[in-house]
Amino acid sequence: MKRRKPKDFPPGPFSFPFLGNVQFLMIINDPIGMVQKLTEKHGDVFSLQIGSQSFVIVNGLPLVKETLVSQGENFMDRPEIPINTVVFGNLGLVFSNGHLWKQQRRFTLTTLRNFGLGKRSLEERIQEECRFLTDAFRDEQGNPFNPHLKINNAVSNIVCSVTFGNRFEYHDEDFQNLLQLMDETVTLQGKIMSQLYNAFPSIMKYLPGSHQTIFKNWELMKNFVCNVISKHKEDLNPSESRDFIDSYLQEMAKPNGSDFCEDNLVACTLDLFFAGTETTSTTIRWALLFMAIYPDIQARVQAEIDAVIGQTRQPALEDRNKMPYTNAVIHEVQRKGNIIPVNVPRQAMKDTVLAGFRVPKGTILIPNLSSVMFDKKEWETPHLFNPGHFLKDGQFWKREAFMPFSIGKRACLGELLARAELFLFFTALLQKFTFQAPPDTILDLKFILGMTLAPRPYKICAVPR
Ligand code: HEM
Repeated sequence: MKRRKPKDFPPGPFSFPFLGNVQFLMIINDPIGMVQKLTEKHGDVFSLQIGSQSFVIVNGLPLVKETLVSQGENFMDRPEIPINTVVFGNLGLVFSNGHLWKQQRRFTLTTLRNFGLGKRSLEERIQEECRFLTDAFRDEQGNPFNPHLKINNAVSNIVCSVTFGNRFEYHDEDFQNLLQLMDETVTLQGKIMSQLYNAFPSIMKYLPGSHQTIFKNWELMKNFVCNVISKHKEDLNPSESRDFIDSYLQEMAKPNGSDFCEDNLVACTLDLFFAGTETTSTTIRWALLFMAIYPDIQARVQAEIDAVIGQTRQPALEDRNKMPYTNAVIHEVQRKGNIIPVNVPRQAMKDTVLAGFRVPKGTILIPNLSSVMFDKKEWETPHLFNPGHFLKDGQFWKREAFMPFSIGKRACLGELLARAELFLFFTALLQKFTFQAPPDTILDLKFILGMTLAPRPYKICAVPR
């Protein structure tokens, strides 16, 4: 926002001319602590300036709800984030706006729903993948190993089977390379060079650094998706759809489908692939870490699995309602894991008043999910890993302040799928294994902040039960 700020703009810390509050980019490794300190000083709505761009950070349940739901229509758009615009333009699902976004989102939701209800349901696909994943963990024979890539591969296979029509073997070299690229990109997005690129793109584009690696990686990932699309075009049957890409190609062939073009197909497919892999995979990695760190909680989950499902039958979604403790643990993993701490940014679509402050059109809004999920007014023990947050009289207790998928009309498009995956993968793994720290190792909850807040790489023992 290059306009002068109005008088009643939200307050914020001292900012340097031209640079703004670049001092905060330097302490990006503790975003939650930083925002908490700023909230204590400036209140629930405060502003930061990075380069020429103003950000308004919104904290606490009432105001985050107001931003995303009751005033949601005013803050529905995504801002242009230079590092993303270079790759996607404003296409696809995550970074598009207006009519184009609505149309692509509606189409994607309907198509995912159709596949969920199709001949071979999504639940069955996830169950099949659970078998592959438990087999791959069993191969480790209880020895210490880093579960990261196996989990990534399993989770990604679910989105792949819906979008590309097939899964990939865990030793498929091309696919492993693709997952590595995605992982590297997620981590690099949190690095200082990427933040500086977003603040000063016209200067940074000439400088070397990790932002250049991000662009290179995206191009390689794009090429992978383009090849898959080309193959689909070769054997497309107009009267039958095998997957998301087929459905999209059929939509492109209809008259008046002008926004349904190949560039958008590539962007939507990459969005699904990326958003559908990293998030769920990171959450499962947190889950295994919490289980190894809190063996009593792990034992209670296993006791519930044994009582409701037993040791041989595969977990199914209909078990979830009969397993309040396991459900509470998964929710607590998501709350405490807090993988998208400050949500995906929004933008004021017109001049708006929020909590008595004037927010001009174009201001970037950060609805801070951590401020809600760690709010001491909402949670009994916000900084502890305590599944009791989601239990009342032994039953599962749904909490309004639980919002890892965000809320409102632009909330996560994959929430239902992600929740199904988290339940099925988590119960399938704990049914077959007990997770433990390797001998002489103390596991901790330190994180890496990239596009997601992820556990630092760790090794763990999956001891067969
Ligand atoms: C958007 C969280 C899994 C696809 C989002 C947003 C959040 C989020 C916080 C931003 C919402 C907003 O702006 O208000 C999560 C978490 C997941 C998860 C915590 C797993 C634990 C998935 C999966 C898929 C997916 C499995 C794909 C199938 C998307 C897409 C968007 C999105 C396409 C952009 C929606 C839009 O802009 O309209 N997600 N997500 N997510 N998510 Fe997820």
